[in-house]
Amino acid sequence: MTNWPRNAFVSIRPDPNPCRPQDLGKFEIVKSDGAARLGKLHTKHGVLNTPMLLPVVNPNIRTIEPREMWDRYGVEGLITNSYVIWKHDRLHESGLKDGVHALLDFPGVIVTDSGTFQSYVYGDVEVGVEEIVEFQKNLGVDVGTMLDVFGRPDMTREQIENAVEETISRAPISLKLAGEKLLLNGPIQGGLYPDLRAIAGEKMGQVEGDVRGFAVHPIGGIVPLMERQRYRELFEILLAARSTIPPNRPIHLFGCGHPLLFPFAIALGTDLFDSAAYALFARDNRLMTPTGTLKLADLSEWPISSSALFGKTPAEVRAMGEKERGVLIAHHNLEITQAELARCREAVRNGKIWQLAEQRSHASPQLREAFLWVIDQLISSDEGPVGISSLRGIASTNPIRHGGENLSEDIEFRPHILHLKSLLATRWRSPGSWWDSSTGEPVRVVIIEGVPPPWRETALHSVISTLIEEPKAVILLSTPIGLLPYSLEDVSPWCHIDCSDDTWSEFSDVDDIIDDLAELGLDGLPVERRVPGPVPESNPVQTSEIRNWLDRCTIVDKLSVLNGISPIDGCKITEGMVSRRSRTDRMINVHSNDEHIISPRLMDGAISLTLAGARRLNMLNSQPPLEFGEEFDGEEVDHPGIARVLLRDDAIPFVGVGRNVMHGYVLGADPHLIPGQPCLVVDSEGNLVAHGIAVTGARDMAFLSKGIAVRVRDGALKED
Ligand code: GUN
Repeated sequence: MTNWPRNAFVSIRPDPNPCRPQDLGKFEIVKSDGAARLGKLHTKHGVLNTPMLLPVVNPNIRTIEPREMWDRYGVEGLITNSYVIWKHDRLHESGLKDGVHALLDFPGVIVTDSGTFQSYVYGDVEVGVEEIVEFQKNLGVDVGTMLDVFGRPDMTREQIENAVEETISRAPISLKLAGEKLLLNGPIQGGLYPDLRAIAGEKMGQVEGDVRGFAVHPIGGIVPLMERQRYRELFEILLAARSTIPPNRPIHLFGCGHPLLFPFAIALGTDLFDSAAYALFARDNRLMTPTGTLKLADLSEWPISSSALFGKTPAEVRAMGEKERGVLIAHHNLEITQAELARCREAVRNGKIWQLAEQRSHASPQLREAFLWVIDQLISSDEGPVGISSLRGIASTNPIRHGGENLSEDIEFRPHILHLKSLLATRWRSPGSWWDSSTGEPVRVVIIEGVPPPWRETALHSVISTLIEEPKAVILLSTPIGLLPYSLEDVSPWCHIDCSDDTWSEFSDVDDIIDDLAELGLDGLPVERRVPGPVPESNPVQTSEIRNWLDRCTIVDKLSVLNGISPIDGCKITEGMVSRRSRTDRMINVHSNDEHIISPRLMDGAISLTLAGARRLNMLNSQPPLEFGEEFDGEEVDHPGIARVLLRDDAIPFVGVGRNVMHGYVLGADPHLIPGQPCLVVDSEGNLVAHGIAVTGARDMAFLSKGIAVRVRDGALKED
């Protein structure tokens, strides 16, 4: 029975399509933004588009009908408890007879838990490890859960070690019994111990059944932390577990369902949530919002809108009968939950999930403390599991993104900005030759300040007059996120910082300047700070020579900083280069030796290769990348060359004519591959097959077996 009247215009969604048999249980990454990812988990009852929340449905209560969740809120999957069904005769019998989808009247994905949580709450459960998996299989569940051992935060290390070991020892038989059709959750226990969480992630990730390993890894034992708002420990556990969990398995935060936590949990790599909070809070007259919880008793007006509350006042809702009120608030809570998840997915799509997490961190002191603690982990180089996840999170973040970058007190700690600054520090070099054809070290640094972007309009004349005065000057721009070589003036985010005009007239702190100069290897040089004055008379011949030289610096520096090409190789490739300019006077096509090799990307300042450019870059590196699992025994270098992906032979005819590289066909990839940046696709001899944009990073490519790995721009084996 539906308790809530359906709007006349609500469409009734068709039932989902089952996945292809060979895709059952596969997880695909469609888009990533650092550790955050948009994914698809393929099941017999359709796809779970992640990040998403599985609302908890108590089969005895059903505050909102599962069918209504599907129809009205687009809920693709829910979670219920197989132990509750097992214990109640009526549910047990009907579930086994008609299947769990009929029992709940839900056409989408049904996940079940195993009774572990009941054992945590009530002390024990009567069901056995094998019996509960068999039962879930017989119910026709999509994703079941093995009976894990709940590790409480107050347990000693020894007790937690036992919980982890016992859970791991139950895994092989559970997977074996699950067989072909039942996908299984492999919970990661480990209490508050990051090393035990990492061990659990590794060992549970390695267990194989006859058909497959675990489909999903929930992080268990965290409900007591969330109840006490111990968010710092919660996120420490997430980072530690994520250091070893295979990236082709979604990560589920067991029992986490408050919208306040979604953006940060997603930014740190969570794919699935589940919670009964929408119904439990409602019974308690509490309304969820993305920034916290409101008590109905305190409200005169709604500070948040939802279709459930629309047209009613808080006083009217207070006056309702208890049951009706609970159902209404549960609808509000579910609606808000779904809306916040949509907001998060959109943020991942647009490269803004960290900014959203940063905003939300201000909504709760405990969340803010956790956020600042994670930032500390990002900037420290801890070697433990938390440090590994933090470093990976930065290295897998595309440093370039279009659109505005909001200025905030935390801006410089956003992972993509940390990544860009570290690339700048390791890969940028001052020019080896100057516009007047002289060579040698720079003799001066000139910092241009006091003007906003676009600097090609506000500062170019000052750059030119500075270089006429002193050709061997390195010109840097002062920005709220540090000093930037003028050659990278159109690289977003630097050129797209959203801030008040006054920000640009503030002068950088001397200590910050000294630090930035040291990072760029420019310490020890005389420094001059300059505010551009009026445009002076200029000599057109000199101006044109300087502009050509600046254009070449731009290409060499972008290839070096963003694509790992050594400046020496960059100079060779751009020898005698000619560029075409747009009507707005921006460089658009770069030709060298009569070949169009590069198109600078106007929207974000990155580089787009042409096939001829890809061929030239591939010639710089004769060794193909190592296959996954092979040990690199060479020396780490600052400029490892453009990142490459090694393709399986049977995919060459397809990718060579322009088809995308699919996961499962990748044999190896350079570790410095960055999702969203250009890469080359090569065969086992190192010959170019195609070039394109990486969708995932090297570690993902080693594990994933579904979805696009490289979006190919052009095949190298096409007939002309
Ligand atoms: N629900 C909330 N926490 C847990 C947990 O640790 N294990 C299981 N199986 N279910 C949970």
